[in-house]
Formats: sequence, C-alpha cells, structure tokens
Amino acid sequence: MIILLGSSGYVGKEFERILSKRGMSYKALTRAQVDYTSAAQLRAHLVANRPDFIINAAGFTGKPNVDACELQKDETMQGNVHFPKMLAGVCAELGIPWGHVSSGCIFSGCLVEQNKIWVAEKNMNQDYIRQIALTEPSRLKGFDESFTPNFSFSDGPCSYYSGTKAMGEEAIKGVGDHYVWRLRIPFNEINNPRNYLTKIQTYAKVYDNLNSLSHLEDFVNACIDCWVKHVSYGTYNVTNPGYVSTRQVVESIKKILKPNREFIFWESDEEFYRLGAKALRSNCILDAGKLLAAGVNMRTVEDALRDSIREWEKV
Ligand SMILES: NC(=O)c1ccc[n+]([C@@H]2O[C@H](COP(=O)([O-])OP(=O)(O)OC[C@H]3O[C@@H](n4cnc5c(N)ncnc54)[C@H](OP(=O)(O)O)[C@@H]3O)[C@@H](O)[C@H]2O)c1
Repeated sequence: MIILLGSSGYVGKEFERILSKRGMSYKALTRAQVDYTSAAQLRAHLVANRPDFIINAAGFTGKPNVDACELQKDETMQGNVHFPKMLAGVCAELGIPWGHVSSGCIFSGCLVEQNKIWVAEKNMNQDYIRQIALTEPSRLKGFDESFTPNFSFSDGPCSYYSGTKAMGEEAIKGVGDHYVWRLRIPFNEINNPRNYLTKIQTYAKVYDNLNSLSHLEDFVNACIDCWVKHVSYGTYNVTNPGYVSTRQVVESIKKILKPNREFIFWESDEEFYRLGAKALRSNCILDAGKLLAAGVNMRTVEDALRDSIREWEKV
C-alpha cells in the first residue's frame, strides 16, 4: 500500500486520480486527518499502517504564485525544507522508501554548444540564445542531474521559493531510500489556474523565455513507474524531453484554439520585473535522459503540448 501526502494539492490530486485509475492500493492523507508534519504523529501513523512506499506531494508553493513565498518565508521554509527533512528521517528509521516532488525551478539557463564545448549559460533571455533556439536548436541542451542547482541560496540570486526547494533536496540527500522527482511548469488539457496553458491564456501580458515543461499526467505516471519498475533510487528530471519558447506555445494556442486572440508580451525583463513579478523567475532547460534511460517513457514536449491544446476544454 502507498501513502500519499499532500493529496489536497494540485499535484497531489493528480497522483490520487492516477493511483486510482491504475488500480493501485493507496491511502491519501491530508493534514486535516493526520498532522504528518509532526514527526510523532507521522511515525505512529506509519507504524500502524506499514506502507510499502510513500509519495510526498506536499510542499509550500505560495498563492497565487511564488511571489507570496517572499512574504511567507517561515511557511515556505517549513514546508519545503524542515518537513521533507523530517519525513526523510522517519522513513529511513522505519525502512520505508519514498518519493519527493521537487522542482526544476532550482535551475536557471541551459548548456550552449560553443566551438564543440558545452558552456553553461544562466540567462537565456539574450538575443544570441534566441537565435540559436530558432536556427540551431540542437546547440542548446538541458542540465542533467549531475549539475548542482544554480538558482539557489548557494548559487544565487534566486527566489525564496526556489532557494528552499534546492535546500529541501540537499536536506534529504543520502537519508534512506528515495526518489527526487523534479517537476517543471505543469500543464495539461484541463483548465485550472495552476495549469501553465491556463496561465498563458489569462495573463494580461506574457513573459517570453525558453523552458522545459512537465505534462502533469505524464509526470505522475513517470513517478509511479519509477516505483513500479524498480528504477534505482535517486534524482530524476521528470520533464517531457525537449524545450519550447513561450512564443511557440502561444503560436500553438492561436493555431489550434484561438486564431483571433491577440497575445501581448512583456517588452523586456526590466518591464516584467518592474510591473509583473516580485521574485526572480527561473527559466531553464532540463535533460530528461536519465529517466528515459531508466526505462520510464515521456512524450516529447512538442507532442504533449499539441495533444493538450487539441484536447483543451474551452475556456
Ligand atoms: N504546481 C507547480 O507549478 C509546481 C511546480 C514544480 C514543483 N511543485 C512542487 O509540487 C509540490 C506540490 O505542489 P502543488 O502545486 O500541488 O501545491 P498546492 O496545490 O499548494 O498543494 C500543496 C499541498 O501540500 C500541503 N502543504 C501545504 N503547506 C504545507 C506545509 N507547510 N507543510 C506540509 N504540507 C503542506 C497541503 O496539504 P494539506 O491538505 O495537508 O494542507 C497541500 O495539499 C510542492 O512540493 C511544489 O514545490 C509544484
């Protein structure tokens, strides 16, 4: 039996839906039922229920977006660092393997091929990177799991949220058997304020950059597959292979869904950060090769996006 933590959240609800769809034995917990942030209550619950595996989809994201984390630092630190650290300790003590939903937002930028050498570039919002993305896309690739987060408190600047997500990974490193699953900008075909495709269609102005993305159902299936297929424990970038620019996503929405809709873009980073956002935003490309090599399948990001937009419930 699997115990699912954070089942009331955007990601946790999808885990519950897929666990149920796949006919797997699970128990979804909310903090209202059992305060699993208390080590004593968590330990007692696990000893009584003896799960084979735990999925941690709980964490503090900030509402309506990560800007809120800049003002709720204690909650952000508690949910993203202290809580997973405590959970790792209790799971190690009881010998229960588990999976932790982390985030790709602990990285900024990508690797750029320059004279046959791959060079890390933190800021992709530069003309030469845009040009390469348009004309020679294979000269950009993502960070794989061997790279240390570069949008973190140790390698800043970063948002408070991203800093705590990187700290959370660090806090559980080497403690017991677990997966770290990095989710990156979730989207699917269902209109929801947390869905990237909804956000793009409702923003007054759209911010253009390059990113890897995770289709939410693909992400959840891949995480569950790690456990079902006995994939080695460790850290995995659980993204749909490839990368896209926000402009490409907008073009697909216009082509398939909303031919007459005009989208307005922020003119520059300066304008975006002056008027549109408080905290710095991560934009990054991640390499999903380790997950694929482990035998866990993910559609390409182009396929997943096209399918989601085609199947979009009209907004
Ligand atoms: N959504 C995204 O865009 C995104 C992207 C990358 C990574 N992630 C990660 O995915 C995980 C889930 O995110 P989400 O979007 O589903 O968030 P969400 O909708 O806000 O749900 C968060 C869940 O975590 C629990 N929770 C909230 N604060 C907590 C705290 N301080 N301590 C322990 N549990 C707490 C809540 O469970 P209760 O019912 O018990 O209150 C809630 O169900 C987080 O770790 C987040 O960092 C999300």
